[in-house]
Amino acid sequence: MIRYLDNLKNISSENLEGFFDGWPNPPSVEKHLQLLKNSDYIWLALDEETDNVIGFITAISDKVLSVYIPLLEVLPEYKNRGIGSELVKRMLETTNNYYMVDLICDENLIDFYKRFNMFKSQGMIMRNYQSQNGEGHNL
Ligand SMILES: CC(C)(COP(=O)(O)OP(=O)(O)OC[C@H]1O[C@@H](n2cnc3c(N)ncnc32)[C@H](O)[C@@H]1OP(=O)(O)O)[C@@H](O)C(=O)NCCC(=O)NCCS
Repeated sequence: MIRYLDNLKNISSENLEGFFDGWPNPPSVEKHLQLLKNSDYIWLALDEETDNVIGFITAISDKVLSVYIPLLEVLPEYKNRGIGSELVKRMLETTNNYYMVDLICDENLIDFYKRFNMFKSQGMIMRNYQSQNGEGHNL
């Protein structure tokens, strides 16, 4: 069974193996835990058999008008079972009192996000690939 959780109770870095699939310079599990702690809102999907996190979504906010959703991922072996949709649904419910809820995605995921009444816009981004592993600065 999959369980959904909006906090990090009983979650340690050992429960976070396998994410950032395909990233050339991924964050460590410790950095993953840190970014979850530092996010304003999170939802996790847990496999109750293993207690491991198998999907997550994060959001950061100015706590007045705007929310940005930087990360959503479901582990490859758990994809296409509705878990990603459930994480998005729960995050959009959590943030539904904010005026702006924004994210950036690839073209092939536009139809996925349209299912949640999100609409396509334009975006501008910058990426510092040397910092992709999260080691570029220490808070
Ligand atoms: C996007 C992602 C979170 C979806 O998770 P999931 O648990 O498989 O999602 P669901 O089972 O709820 O829905 C899957 C649907 O999304 C579609 N989808 C997922 N990834 C897709 C892709 N790369 N291209 C096209 N469609 C995609 C599937 O075709 C499926 O459609 P269907 O319901 O019509 O069959 C997951 O594929 C993932 O982790 N991808 C890698 C990270 C990523 O791209 N994150 C999004 C950052 S904006």
